[in-house]
Amino acid sequence: MPLKPIARILSIAGSDSGGGAGIQADIKTITALGAYASTAITALTDQNTLGVHNILPVPADFIRAQIRSVIDDIGADAIKIGMLGHRDTIIAIATEIKQVINRCPYLHVIIDPVMLAKGGVALLPKESITTLQDYLFPLAHVLTPNIPEAEQLSRKTITTVSDMCAVASYLHKTTGATILLKGGHLSGDQITDILIDENELYRFTAPRIPSRHTHGTGCTLASALATYLAQGIKLPDAVEQARLYVRQAILHAPQLGAGSGPLWHGINTHPPPSI
Ligand SMILES: Nc1ncnc2c1ncn2[C@@H]1O[C@H](COP(=O)(O)OP(=O)(O)OP(=O)(O)O)[C@@H](O)[C@H]1O
Ligand SMILES: [Mg+2]
Repeated sequence: MPLKPIARILSIAGSDSGGGAGIQADIKTITALGAYASTAITALTDQNTLGVHNILPVPADFIRAQIRSVIDDIGADAIKIGMLGHRDTIIAIATEIKQVINRCPYLHVIIDPVMLAKGGVALLPKESITTLQDYLFPLAHVLTPNIPEAEQLSRKTITTVSDMCAVASYLHKTTGATILLKGGHLSGDQITDILIDENELYRFTAPRIPSRHTHGTGCTLASALATYLAQGIKLPDAVEQARLYVRQAILHAPQLGAGSGPLWHGINTHPPPSI
């Protein structure tokens, strides 16, 4: 029997030396969910669970070269984009991805518009936000902002789930992309994520897990979603399954670091370390 081709996910994101978020979270997630991870690294960060201490951007041409090398040889079924950088980096990545989309018409493009690290350090310069909207958003199938990012993008304030629905709907109308608005930053015992596509608005609600080990939840969710979509699972099921994976990974966090600790990405392949 011929082998079923493995789903290929290219992650374009920054490196987190602490291993909890960014490229490292993406590779762990994609591998744990049975797909193949390749990368184009946009920046190195000197980072641990306590915060981001330094950022070393990768030159735009070198990011493009990484994308080209991966696509020319390995290919991709989904591209997941995370931490970016200055305007010229975003424009270079958009130019390259346009070419990839022309060559791979079935490609899923998932953009996590990362702006701030959990500790509050800016990962995207303010002046890059409009470049992101103008150049990259038109190429996205799914955007996964958190609440502060959605507020920046819409210039609206979000304090309730009904505000989330209104902003998700506004972002869907203005970008044309499917929007997954993550609710982790609203307070309360329950967390609701909102998904809106051209057909429907879905609410996913679950109890908040009382844990400080939530470093990289956003990267992990977007990578899991990219993987499930590349594996042929449709929305909204792909979101449901990605959320489940993130929850399990938070529940079995390895209790590392003195700050916002990493998740346990190996839940599907290795017994949780806490058991
Ligand atoms: N304490 C928690 N318990 C359960 N689920 C959570 C918790 N915190 C976040 N999540 C889930 O994790 C996912 C990511 O949401 P979040 O709002 O934290 O994104 P983010 O701010 O982009 O994360 P990051 O800080 O990693 O960039 C969402 O599906 C959210 O529901
Ligand atoms: Mg995030």
